[in-house]
Amino acid sequence: MGDTLSIKDKRTGRDYEVPIQAETIKAVDLRKIRVKPDDFGLMTYDPGFMNTASCRSSITFIDGDKGILLHRGYPIDQLAEHYSHLEVAYLIVCGELPDERQHRQWRGAIMAETEIPDATNRVIQSFPESDQSMGMLVSAIAALSTCYADAGKVDDPETRRRQMIRLIAKIPTLAAYIYRHQSGRPIVHPSDRSYAGNFLNMMFAGTKPNYEVHPDLEQALDVLFVLHADHEQNCSTSVMRCIGSSRPDPYLAAAGAVGALAGPLHGGANEAVLEMLEAIGSTKRIPEYIERVKKGDFRLMGFGHRVYKNYDPRARIIKRMADQVFKVTGTNPLLDIALELEQIALQDDYFKSRKLYPNVDFYSGLIYQAMGFPASMFPVLFAIGRMAGWVAQWEELIKDPEQKIARPRQIYEGPATRDVPAKAKAEASERA
Ligand code: ACO
Repeated sequence: MGDTLSIKDKRTGRDYEVPIQAETIKAVDLRKIRVKPDDFGLMTYDPGFMNTASCRSSITFIDGDKGILLHRGYPIDQLAEHYSHLEVAYLIVCGELPDERQHRQWRGAIMAETEIPDATNRVIQSFPESDQSMGMLVSAIAALSTCYADAGKVDDPETRRRQMIRLIAKIPTLAAYIYRHQSGRPIVHPSDRSYAGNFLNMMFAGTKPNYEVHPDLEQALDVLFVLHADHEQNCSTSVMRCIGSSRPDPYLAAAGAVGALAGPLHGGANEAVLEMLEAIGSTKRIPEYIERVKKGDFRLMGFGHRVYKNYDPRARIIKRMADQVFKVTGTNPLLDIALELEQIALQDDYFKSRKLYPNVDFYSGLIYQAMGFPASMFPVLFAIGRMAGWVAQWEELIKDPEQKIARPRQIYEGPATRDVPAKAKAEASERA
């Protein structure tokens, strides 16, 4: 017999042995622990999934205490330094880094799918010219679901792979068309450039006289996509899996994932960081701002993480990359505030004792802003990078025989069974 956990139920005096595998017990094994034979059995209560594994996964590993992030075993800093986003996307989706031929085919398959259907473009053109970019992206991705009749065949590997390629290919186009619509400019069709270069061109061509994609910015954006490509069971990925578990097509699941990413506690944090730095306004006002954070008036955006209790390795890379970008764009005046804010926070007991460090969002907004992206597009950029992870995690779920429709339990705290009041009964019989 392997490792087990011995449990004594003091309500009944009974003993139980629960198997332990991979430092985990199965929650359903607790169901046999009951007082009366017809009891439901013991459940676990875990709001926010603080300590619940919802799947087995071979894609991404994080050691939050040590600040380690690996995709398929490869450290994120090595991937970001040596591989393009499409190569990392291949790794995440297919399990291994591509050789030259595989890379050529993968890149070709993706770049051949970058156009979006006219019907989806018409959906984008029908949006009000607001800056609600994530709402538009949710709707545009969901609209793709109406264009591919076969997309619901999620158990067919080839059909599945086709939709995954389409999602990775089309999200930059959707994002750029949303931006062009918001800024009242005509769309620029996809062209045969790198993944990031094509996106920058669709965004900014014609916005300045003689606009050309700057190779350093193209490379920096590609690295930012790599850094966002996957992050195991974060909120939006869990939504992708949760929706995927009822087996709709992946466009509908990805639309839900984008919705989850939009929140300020997740992908919307980079936008919130910029607003925060603008509100602070000058390095002199940082101590006062930190005091208000410590009093609980608001959170220090771009700080803290559910899993990292150490410096987020992605934030370290982004911070280094800022110099490369600012050499081209000129520095962002908010950078000084961000650098000093980080310094002060990292020395403060409030942040030290709670192990709150800068996360991926702390510096990314500064870079995006310097590159010319409006703040409302920051979470959209996050979504472009993360699409690779979402579709890979979705496919892993679909192929996993242990997975079932996601359906958590609850602890019911409402009223016990009761009869409706007499008056309501009378009205009901009149209606009948
Ligand atoms: N500023 C100030 N205090 C914070 C912060 C913060 N950014 N983050 C956590 N804390 C404090 C909490 O108030 C709490 O203190 P307490 O123990 O005195 O009550 C303690 O640290 C633990 O916080 P929780 O909310 O329990 O941590 P959780 O793991 O649920 O939250 C989260 C993680 C949502 C990322 C949180 O740190 C946060 O709100 N950060 C700011 C938003 C942000 O940057 N989000 C981006 C995350 S990265 C990503 O999604 C890509």
